[in-house]
Amino acid sequence: MADKKIIAVIGATGAQGSGLVRAILADTSGQFAARAITRNPNSDKAKALAAAGAEVVAADVDDEASLTRAFTGAYGAFCVTFFWDHFSAEKEVAEAGHMARAAKAAGVTHVVWSTLEDTRTFMKLDDPRMPTLHGKYKVPHFDGKGEGDQQFRDAGVPTTFLLTAFYWENFISFGSGPKPAGDGTFVLTLPMGQAKLPAIGVEDIGKCALGVFKRPDLIGKRIGIAGGAPTGDEMAAGLSKALGVTVKYNDIPPDVYRGFGFPGADDLGNMFQFKRDFNDAYVKSRSLELSRELNPELQTYEQWLAGHAKAIPLG
Ligand SMILES: NC(=O)c1ccc[n+]([C@@H]2O[C@H](COP(=O)([O-])OP(=O)(O)OC[C@H]3O[C@@H](n4cnc5c(N)ncnc54)[C@H](OP(=O)(O)O)[C@@H]3O)[C@@H](O)[C@H]2O)c1
Repeated sequence: MADKKIIAVIGATGAQGSGLVRAILADTSGQFAARAITRNPNSDKAKALAAAGAEVVAADVDDEASLTRAFTGAYGAFCVTFFWDHFSAEKEVAEAGHMARAAKAAGVTHVVWSTLEDTRTFMKLDDPRMPTLHGKYKVPHFDGKGEGDQQFRDAGVPTTFLLTAFYWENFISFGSGPKPAGDGTFVLTLPMGQAKLPAIGVEDIGKCALGVFKRPDLIGKRIGIAGGAPTGDEMAAGLSKALGVTVKYNDIPPDVYRGFGFPGADDLGNMFQFKRDFNDAYVKSRSLELSRELNPELQTYEQWLAGHAKAIPLG
C-alpha cells in the first residue's frame, strides 16, 4: 500500500467516482491506491468503499481547505461537479476553482477533470436557435464545466480535460428511458433528429479515467470518451431487442422537449439540440478508439444493454 500512488476521487460514492474507485481496486497492475472522498464517511456507500479497500476521507467541494487536506499525499485527483444537485453553473465554476487550487496546493501530479463543452464557444448567446438560460448560458450544465477548465489552467495544475458522455444509465435512473405509447408499445422520446448520441456506461467512465492516470502523456490534453454513438432509431432498436418489446424512436422538436416542465427540461432540451446541431464536432470529440485503448473492457451499447436492460423501468 505504502508504495502505491494514491488517487483521490471526488464524488466517490456517486456514478463516475465510484466507477473509478472500483476500477482502481480491481486493477491488477497494483500501481494505485484509492482515496474515496465523501462528505459523509459514515454513509453506507462510504462504508462499503472502505470495506472494499479504499481509504475514505471527508471533504466538500465547497470547502477548499478540506480539499487541500484530502488531496495531500495524493499522486492523482479525479475532479467532478454535481450540477443536478443545485442547478447552478456558477457554482460548478467556483467548485472547479476550489478543486484546482487545492490540487495545486497539495502538489498533485495529475488531475483528471470531468468536463463538458462550453457550448457558447459554438454559438453566441444571441444565437436564436435556442434560448439563453439563467442569463448567460446556452446549456448551463455543459457551459459551467467548460468554463471551469480555465480554473485548472489558471491554477497551473497538470490536468487532463476528460469530456464525458451521456450515460446509458440515464435510461434507468434519469427518466430518459422508453415510455408506454398506450398501445402496448413504447417510445424513446428525444429531440435528436437522425443525429448520433455518443454515450457510455458509468463504470466505463471510471475505467477510462484510470487509463488516463496511467498515461502522463495525456496531461494538458483534452480528450473525449464514449462506448458508442447510436442514432435514436438504433437506440430504440437496441432497446426493443434487449427488452423484448417494441420501442420506437419518437423524434420531437427541441422546443417541445424544453416545454416538458420537469426541472432542467430547458437545459436538457438545449443540450440535445446542441448535440444534434453540432453533431459532427460533438461525435468527433469522443473517440471510441481512444476510449477502448484506455479501457479495454469498454462496453458497446449492445453489451451495456445485455448487462443492464432488466433494470430499465418500463413505466
Ligand atoms: N447523467 C449524464 O448523462 C451525465 C453525463 C456526463 C456528465 N454528467 C455530469 O456528471 C455530474 C455528476 O456526476 P455523477 O453522476 O458521478 O454524480 P452522482 O452520482 O450524483 O454522485 C455525486 C456524489 O458526489 C458527492 N457530492 C455531492 N455534493 C458534494 C459536495 N458538495 N462535496 C463533495 N462531494 C459531493 C455525493 O457523495 P457524498 O454524499 O458521499 O458526499 C454523491 O454521491 C453532473 O455534473 C453531470 O452534469 C452527467
